[in-house]
Amino acid sequence: MRTKMVAGNWKMNKNLQEGVALATELKEAVKNPIGTPFIHLATVAELLKGSAIKVAAENCADHEKGAYTGEVSAEMVKSTGAEYVILGHSERRQYYAESYEMLAEKVRLALANGLKVIFCIGEVKEEREAGKQNEVVKAQLEGSVFGLSAEEWKNITLAYEPVWAIGTGLTATPAQAEEIHAYIRSLVAEKYGKEAAEDTTILYGGSCNEKNAAELFACPDIDGGLIGGAALVAEKFLAIIAAR
Ligand code: PGA
Repeated sequence: MRTKMVAGNWKMNKNLQEGVALATELKEAVKNPIGTPFIHLATVAELLKGSAIKVAAENCADHEKGAYTGEVSAEMVKSTGAEYVILGHSERRQYYAESYEMLAEKVRLALANGLKVIFCIGEVKEEREAGKQNEVVKAQLEGSVFGLSAEEWKNITLAYEPVWAIGTGLTATPAQAEEIHAYIRSLVAEKYGKEAAEDTTILYGGSCNEKNAAELFACPDIDGGLIGGAALVAEKFLAIIAAR
């Protein structure tokens, strides 16, 4: 059975003290990963030790180690106590030119270092308007994660995040989201078999909030959410978790 999950993605928000305050408010929430900036990871992981909340990095390097000033390796992320890493977020693809190949390498290194990966895919507005969303997510999966073995795949959670819905207040309708989630699951079934596809957690992200979460999560192929803006306020994030 696949895991239902609501993951937070703080992005570049909250200084360390603010992050600690928010994590403290979330401490009792069950089994949900929160993605924090690198500098928060060790402190927040320590704070949440013994609670069911897991900590996620929002990125890791595409190299193992060495002369890459300013980068943070998957091994370093793991050493903080973090258990997850979010990779392939559209903001990384768009603003930091992360290619399919680079992401494939990041995923490989994350898994090799014992991290679980929340891998994001999704189309931009023009692609949706041209009816190309299926093509886009297929290429993103084939380009970066469909080279993984069946064993490695068990540590992958997918997040479908239409770029036009991220931070815009424009949410995909439950019908739009369900349609593409079912398509994504069919691609996983073709690649890894029906059972693996049934076990794959596929999150929805993009202006998911405490008001629309229940309706989205009620869809058969939507297994939870990846939450940006609404994850910055404990009350809202906890309400979304309750809608799971
Ligand atoms: P949002 O961001 O909830 O603020 O739209 C979601 C995400 O980018 O993961």
